[in-house]
Amino acid sequence: MDQYIIHGGTTLRGEVEISGAKNAAVAIIPAALLVKGVCRIENIPQISDTDTLLTILVELGARVSYINKNTIEIDCSNARCQDAPFELMRKIRASYYLIGSMLGRFGSAKTTMPGGCNFGVRPIDQHIKGMRALGADVNVEGGFVYADALDGRLHGSRIYLDKVSVGATMNIMIAAVLAEGRTVIENAAREPHIVDLANFLNSMGADVRGAGTDSIRINGVDELHGGSYSIIPDQIEAGTYMVAAAATGGEVLITNIIPKHLEGISAKLRETGTFIEEYEEAILVRGAEKLRRINLKTMPYPGFPTDMQPQFGVLLCQANGTSVITEGIYDNRFKYVNELRKMGAEIQVDGRVCVIDGGRRLSGAPVHACDLRAGAAMVIAGMIADGTTVIDDVHYIERGYERFVEKLNALGADITVRYDDDDPERIGLYSVS
Ligand code: EPU
Repeated sequence: MDQYIIHGGTTLRGEVEISGAKNAAVAIIPAALLVKGVCRIENIPQISDTDTLLTILVELGARVSYINKNTIEIDCSNARCQDAPFELMRKIRASYYLIGSMLGRFGSAKTTMPGGCNFGVRPIDQHIKGMRALGADVNVEGGFVYADALDGRLHGSRIYLDKVSVGATMNIMIAAVLAEGRTVIENAAREPHIVDLANFLNSMGADVRGAGTDSIRINGVDELHGGSYSIIPDQIEAGTYMVAAAATGGEVLITNIIPKHLEGISAKLRETGTFIEEYEEAILVRGAEKLRRINLKTMPYPGFPTDMQPQFGVLLCQANGTSVITEGIYDNRFKYVNELRKMGAEIQVDGRVCVIDGGRRLSGAPVHACDLRAGAAMVIAGMIADGTTVIDDVHYIERGYERFVEKLNALGADITVRYDDDDPERIGLYSVS
């Protein structure tokens, strides 16, 4: 399998440009299925999750062409309602957006239950509740989701989410855009990628209002037209480089970002003593001489993001004193702790709480990337450790970070990639170099 070999003890310095937001792109690509016309999408991150979704769209009859490595045109005018490639759907979480987009476009959808990183149970009951409220008959059988609009088209409705869910909010938005009448989503998630999806849909002729608040209103329209849209920068990719700079005691200017989206991350880094300076579209991070211990709890946006929790777990191994992390979103997002222990970290986990006894040097070891963000965290751990760290299962990391190794090495890291050409997890049909 593919591996990263990291020689530790490096300090990151220089400038890094952030790519388009993964969790916006993985909703916008399936949403393009609603559009009869050409969607030109800029700032698409070149990562395996977007490749997988584009491959699925092509199988459904879309025409996808790359204008350059981060700009694509998707034309779903001739897309057909048919079975999508289920083995690809099972690989990723975001395939759940095809329930909304196929229902909206064709009035019918058959998808697999979604895959994605394993943080314990990740139900999609709120997605299903939303589709049912819009008038779809939805059944889950044998690992598949079958959904049919009862009279061929969805109908607007008022939906209160029992749990603040990014995926359910975006999926219902996608489904409701072409529904007849008005939909209101209450207790909606407020992440920047929700606003980005709304802006994408509106630029193609939809009428979505209130995205970014907990009440989103969608007035259904009869059809969407083609257009051009640029995806926002990835706040988690930016946050990962911020932590990497802080953990290695370096100084990195992170460009092409929206500082407002990084407020939770910046605030917690400042508490550790890390120096942060914000500019209009960039942020400078300079590592502290001595990192201070902190406590943090992950929450829905604008709270501290769960997708930054493992990276902070590594950082806090370097801080003097005891830090406590409480995971407020998932049941089981501390699997990376076992890998960190192999490197000498002293961490106790009890359910959703993890207690880090910081200030110990880490030493290189063979470790796994348990999932996407855990993998990124292990890369940071490898860079601060003494000696060599070998990380396997790095296909997880490549699902979400564009040119991660190339960008880190340009900042002074010492990472080599050992590719196994037979690694079945790697796909890249539509990538261009
Ligand atoms: N939940 C339910 N029922 C549902 C949906 C969610 O109980 O129908 C629960 C989940 O089990 C979880 C919580 O609600 O405990 C929040 O889940 P949410 O639906 O917000 O997460 P998601 O849509 O599955 C997206 C991102 C994740 C990110 C979370 C939270 C995508 C493709 N994935 O997942 O991203 O952690 O929101 O911000 O957008 C990552 O990028 O590494 C990643 C895992």
